[in-house]
Amino acid sequence: MIKVAILGYGTVGSGVFEIINENKDLITANAGEEIEVKYVLDLRDFPGDPCEDVLVHDYNVILNDPEVEVVIEVMGGLKPAYDFVKSALEAGKSVCTSNKELVAKYGAELIKIAQSNNRNFLFEAAVGGGIPIIRPINMHITADKICEITGILNGTTNYILTKMDKEGADFDSTLKMAQDLGYAERNPEADIEGFDAVRKIAILASLAKGKTVDFEEIYTEGISKITATDFKYAKAMGRSIKLLGKCKNEDDAVVASVAPRLLAPEHPLYNVSDVVNGILVRGNMVGDLVFIGSGAGKLPTASAVVSDVVDSVRHLNVSTTVMWDEEKLELEDFAQSKKQFFVRANVSKEEAEAVFANVEYVDAGIDGEIGFITAKMSEKDFDERADKLGKVITRIRVEA
Ligand code: HSE
Repeated sequence: MIKVAILGYGTVGSGVFEIINENKDLITANAGEEIEVKYVLDLRDFPGDPCEDVLVHDYNVILNDPEVEVVIEVMGGLKPAYDFVKSALEAGKSVCTSNKELVAKYGAELIKIAQSNNRNFLFEAAVGGGIPIIRPINMHITADKICEITGILNGTTNYILTKMDKEGADFDSTLKMAQDLGYAERNPEADIEGFDAVRKIAILASLAKGKTVDFEEIYTEGISKITATDFKYAKAMGRSIKLLGKCKNEDDAVVASVAPRLLAPEHPLYNVSDVVNGILVRGNMVGDLVFIGSGAGKLPTASAVVSDVVDSVRHLNVSTTVMWDEEKLELEDFAQSKKQFFVRANVSKEEAEAVFANVEYVDAGIDGEIGFITAKMSEKDFDERADKLGKVITRIRVEA
């Protein structure tokens, strides 16, 4: 029997506890050993809850117990998660986590500690909720150069954008629903402003490139400025608006970003709706692979965490984690990246054409403004022209 400890009894932690107990026989068969939760760590008490008998408030009880082979970190945040995880790995325990903040910031360091102790640091649930994406990139797509990863990586924002698109719902009440359903981060700004998605694309990019991609160097724009009128224009174009995390080879450089983009129905991620996440991985040999599934929520996320626990029990004293190096990957300056832009502006067509030359107008029946799509140009070029035009209400990047 293998003893494990769960750090944090929130949405995901209680889901992990539930799955390990509910699917015990199947998990035992898959892991080759029975898995028992010896401790649950939380500051709070849970009277009457099934975790009550194993609840502890002091992390040292877990750290100093040699019987605990696997630590499951589902607290989120960096403090105290980083110290807890690092000390567990140094003590020769494997760690499974859903914590994207931790993996994006300290992934390379923690992987190295795990490897030097012949243990594993696994984080399938950190990206895409229940979707298997870390293991496929790390273990399966190994014959290809990965030239692009494009993902809808945040369930909360996809849920909000879908409701705005399909039902004309307002932003605040939809966010509240996502929070009630357990999708949102404790601080909703992390979802809305793209801070959650940028950590996830940084993790995927680091995996794909084998070097550390610093999330703080990735251009990040959230959905807080997207309006119902933007969706009217999107409809007139036959497109939808999605928050995309992207990491792509452009010429000889790697460009990464998180931003809302206009997607055409032919795009593999166009129909990825509600809390669902979708990730397109483009290899130079295999072509396009698309991974779709529940991107947030208690049981989908916990399912991915438990799959890591099974993996770490199967490979108890073998480090299977060849992930990425601490060396930093230099990203291309986002200002040089080229694309088409959709623009709304309070100007005449003559003024728009004087600055942007060839434009394609979009008529959404909105008075007092015009909407148009520019030719392909760099971000820098676009910004300069938009400044020159003035009276720009908004601009959204058009996904090719
Ligand atoms: N808040 C995140 C989301 C949770 O909405 O996708 C899963 O990482």
